[in-house]
Amino acid sequence: GKVAVLLGGTAAEREVSLNSGNAVYQALKAGGVDAVAIDVTASPIDALAGQRFDRVFNVIHGRGGEDGVLQAVLEALGLPYTGSGVLASALAMDKLRTKLCWQGAGLPTPRWFLLTGDQDLDTCINALGFPVIVKPAQEGSSIGMSKAHNREELAAALKLASQYRCDVYAEQWIQGQEYTIGMLNGEALPAIRLETPHTFYDFDAKYRANTTQYHCPCGLDNEREKDLQALALKACQTVGVSGWGRVDAFIDDSGRLQLIEVNTVPGMTDHSLVPMAAKAVGIDFQELVWRILETSMV
Ligand code: DAL
Ligand code: MG
Repeated sequence: GKVAVLLGGTAAEREVSLNSGNAVYQALKAGGVDAVAIDVTASPIDALAGQRFDRVFNVIHGRGGEDGVLQAVLEALGLPYTGSGVLASALAMDKLRTKLCWQGAGLPTPRWFLLTGDQDLDTCINALGFPVIVKPAQEGSSIGMSKAHNREELAAALKLASQYRCDVYAEQWIQGQEYTIGMLNGEALPAIRLETPHTFYDFDAKYRANTTQYHCPCGLDNEREKDLQALALKACQTVGVSGWGRVDAFIDDSGRLQLIEVNTVPGMTDHSLVPMAAKAVGIDFQELVWRILETSMV
């Protein structure tokens, strides 16, 4: 059948998605799949009109592609697609509501405070202290995020994050090791440990810097890695994430596991983490792309 690879989009992660999408498109072509790459710069309904597709491989990151909107359009069009459905996509796109969901299920995630404006700064400081990391709830790739050590920086961080037209929250800063765990068809891939000389694993550290270190195997002993993988799977199940995804987590300096967020359309660029973890268990990029495509067939 004919596969539409949807890429690009209009969100802040557009460039990342173009890279992810092109890599996926090339791999499908190389595997003999009849694929068409479509940059969705306006309505996905218009983008899909006029051609007959049997399924969609969605590689659009961020709002409009990863947040349930596109998934709802595809449901309405009756087109099978890769990855999570409407609810899980919408929930996972909002990191703050994802944390609420995890807290409701008793899963560990750093404490947070919703910042609706400067009038909230003092209560936030009383609740969380410093340092904190301030995030737009519905962005990806660390866009709009910054660390704050004092009131002045907190105000500046709120101002920066507020440019992204969504809720902004402060999260307790976790001192520890950062991990990411890919999920493919209900199974956790090996964890990757991330190490960056930057203050945190920011946009530059993710896509540009050559100073970021990726450790896979991650250096945890077997039992501990299994705990982390089990928690990541539980985190996905709780949010309803299906097909594939990637959970970001920390182990803090006291040894506590902490869930940060889950991505339902993780990066598929040549720097990306799910391909790296898949490779560690003998799944090359082309095979990975095929397995993700298969998640549209259930
Ligand atoms: N949001 C980026 C694409 C990721 O999680 O990989
Ligand atoms: Mg994300």
